[in-house]
Amino acid sequence: MFGPRKSIEQLSQRDSGHSLAKTLSWPHLIALGVGAIVGTGIYTLTGVGAERAGPAVILAFAIAGAVCACAALAYAEMATMIPAAGSAYTFSYAAMGETIAWIVGWSLILEYSLACSTVAVGWSGYLVGWIESAGIHLPHMLLVGPHGGGLVNLPAVLVALAVMGMLIAGTRESATLNIVLVIIKLVALSIFVVMALPAFQGGNLDPFMPYGFASTEIEGQKRGVMAAAAIVFFAFYGFDAVATSAEEAKNPGRDLTIGIVGSMVVCTVIYMAVAIAAIGALPFQQLANSPEPLALVLRQLGQPVAAHLIAFAAVLALPSVILVMMYGQSRVFFVMARDGLLPRSLAKISPRTGAPTRITLMTGISIAIVAGIFRLDEIAELANAGTLIAFISVGACLMILRRRAPDMPRLFKCPKPFLVGTLTILGCAYLLLSLPESTLLRFGAWNAIGLLVYFLYGRSRSEAGRETAAA
Ligand code: ALA
Repeated sequence: MFGPRKSIEQLSQRDSGHSLAKTLSWPHLIALGVGAIVGTGIYTLTGVGAERAGPAVILAFAIAGAVCACAALAYAEMATMIPAAGSAYTFSYAAMGETIAWIVGWSLILEYSLACSTVAVGWSGYLVGWIESAGIHLPHMLLVGPHGGGLVNLPAVLVALAVMGMLIAGTRESATLNIVLVIIKLVALSIFVVMALPAFQGGNLDPFMPYGFASTEIEGQKRGVMAAAAIVFFAFYGFDAVATSAEEAKNPGRDLTIGIVGSMVVCTVIYMAVAIAAIGALPFQQLANSPEPLALVLRQLGQPVAAHLIAFAAVLALPSVILVMMYGQSRVFFVMARDGLLPRSLAKISPRTGAPTRITLMTGISIAIVAGIFRLDEIAELANAGTLIAFISVGACLMILRRRAPDMPRLFKCPKPFLVGTLTILGCAYLLLSLPESTLLRFGAWNAIGLLVYFLYGRSRSEAGRETAAA
């Protein structure tokens, strides 16, 4: 009923014309991880989260982080057991069969593509704030999409296309540049904490949970700690993009474990510090819905130079998130095409760079269009829905494969796999249900289209399906 399954051995076999070059080691992977994780989530969605939960956005960060930590452990085991490109999609193919794998792959498209678009819009917010705080005014029509009375968010479109160009130029150069950008991003957040913490006022945290805990509709908007957690969840993912590059890692066992777990720990610590500093410095109502909340905090504290610096760092470094996510997306598409579920011609690799050029082009252009038109929080919520499905599937894969193949070598073994797997599934399901209904409806529609594509196109052309039939 769930379509053919791939054997784990099968997943490491590649025909030469469709294999990715092994160019990455663990420092690249940690940089890829932190590069993908720290981005618009902390730089921009902190404000949206504050609007939904009040000061308890701090708690929302902790909840989302705890769920992601479980998912990260599951990912680390799965990625070292099945070191093939495609992450959750590939794991699901082995554990649960092709139909589920397709649904997961289709959801990953939302995760990676819409995360790129979200970050592009967040980047545009900091760029515009930065330019305007220098006294230069730009035409509103070209700065926001139709939802905000404009025509197109041109800066967001341009940054997405620029990153696409970098990826087409080759993975290796991009990953090395990424390390520099990651350092800039982390230094800027540290400066923010150092500047904002001395202005901490306990009164700003009172009342701590003005909208309660569960996600409930108040004045036409989902509010409460869980509503905020469901959106700031965005700030934590990206570590899974490291898993999608397993096939390109020089030493997948060691490199992936350090890459995934290491980047997760670093980011969680930084976020808690930034959220506490921001909420302590200003009443949460002032943070709500600012397109550049961290710069705003610093300006309000009378630190215009530091505000410029943080905006500058965001402008310079947020593209690294787009880079990693777009990289992940093109790899997922690539693997789905190689498996025959999408047109196989898309999986062609450029002999010069070892990267899948066509698919990167297609991905980049779609991301730019979405970024140009839609609203940041709406895109982020839909990206979260897709990611949550992927995380749920990885939690399930972890437990299924521990049962079915307990003796298969695992270079990283998740501690208490059944507890971690269950917590991943339950935590992600709760976050998913805390999203606004409009997001869940859009997500349902996206999957309905996906299943149609699968049954009309992919199912009859799948490699695994043909092999099963031949056998
Ligand atoms: N975690 C990434 C970000 O916050 C996607 O931008």
